[in-house]
Amino acid sequence: MKAIRGATTVSCDTPEQIKEAVKELLNGIVKANNLEHGQIICIMFSNTGDLKSFYPAKAAREAGFASCALYSSLEPEIDGALEKCIRVMMLVDGDFVPEHVYLNEAKNLRKDITSVLNVAVDGPAGSGKSTVCKKVAESLGILYLDTGAMYRALALKCVRENGDYADKDAVKHITNKLNLKVEYKDGKQITLLDGEDVSDQIRTPQVSLLASYVSAYSFVRTKMVALQREIAQKTSCILDGRDIGTNVLPKCKFKFYLTASPEVRAKRRYEEDKLKGSKQTLEEVLKEINERDFQDKNRAVAPLKQASDAVVIDTSEMSIDAVVNEIIGKIHEKI
Ligand code: DC
Repeated sequence: MKAIRGATTVSCDTPEQIKEAVKELLNGIVKANNLEHGQIICIMFSNTGDLKSFYPAKAAREAGFASCALYSSLEPEIDGALEKCIRVMMLVDGDFVPEHVYLNEAKNLRKDITSVLNVAVDGPAGSGKSTVCKKVAESLGILYLDTGAMYRALALKCVRENGDYADKDAVKHITNKLNLKVEYKDGKQITLLDGEDVSDQIRTPQVSLLASYVSAYSFVRTKMVALQREIAQKTSCILDGRDIGTNVLPKCKFKFYLTASPEVRAKRRYEEDKLKGSKQTLEEVLKEINERDFQDKNRAVAPLKQASDAVVIDTSEMSIDAVVNEIIGKIHEKI
């Protein structure tokens, strides 16, 4: 059994506001924890004494949480306490890490879990983004969201369905029915395509190039960007890609743009892929990097470019740790 906490506030003590706030809070807990109603054993509410117009437990019943035990109680009056506040404790069957939900003014009660930190990292292929982002994420205790993996998953789907990337309608059809999920296991991103873990299959040179092509379609970007924003909005994470600072999170406080010469980037990719058994020559990798650079920088929608407020780091002559330290240092300067 798990206990999930939550709280919210209303601006006026009216039955309508209390009903709406309770519904939003409970549905938020259900969604955040992926719950079935049958798992919920009981829901206990407390509210501050300035709420007199409606019982939160009654609101829960009206919101469809009628099959579990419900209970409301009054909180003691505490000087300086948050006003018009409804707190909840939900006991739930299951074994998972509970996600507590704090809404409206109640977010201030748990700043540790409600303030989301996002870091945007953009740059061309081979600039060191993924290696650096993994390390920064680990050091800051936040997730690493590899947005390229999402475009790669779509590219893989196109390969599997023999979709011609130049046939816009075929790619649109595949995009519309794309069943893509990003999950985390032991802090590592798992990319699920139609429920299958394709984290390794999306790393082939064929998929790399195809991802660059399909990512140029505006309907593809609309879908992926929405998913990325949804994750970033509720999760502290460092995201890497091509348009994170310019398009996905333009208001992000922490933006970095990593770059390196094409030769250095090709060499890195070549060494990395060789370890994985790739037979590509350095020249082939360089050609592919140049092709992808051209494609990523020259597409009409959200091309790769540095945001005007991004910190630019040329990683050509830097070690991974030096880049990681520079990023963490800049973040700490601003926090
Ligand atoms: O980062 P990567 O090499 O895994 O990305 C694969 C391709 O996906 C890349 O060539 C361009 C595209 N991409 C994009 O257009 N926007 C992003 N935010 C991430 C990747």
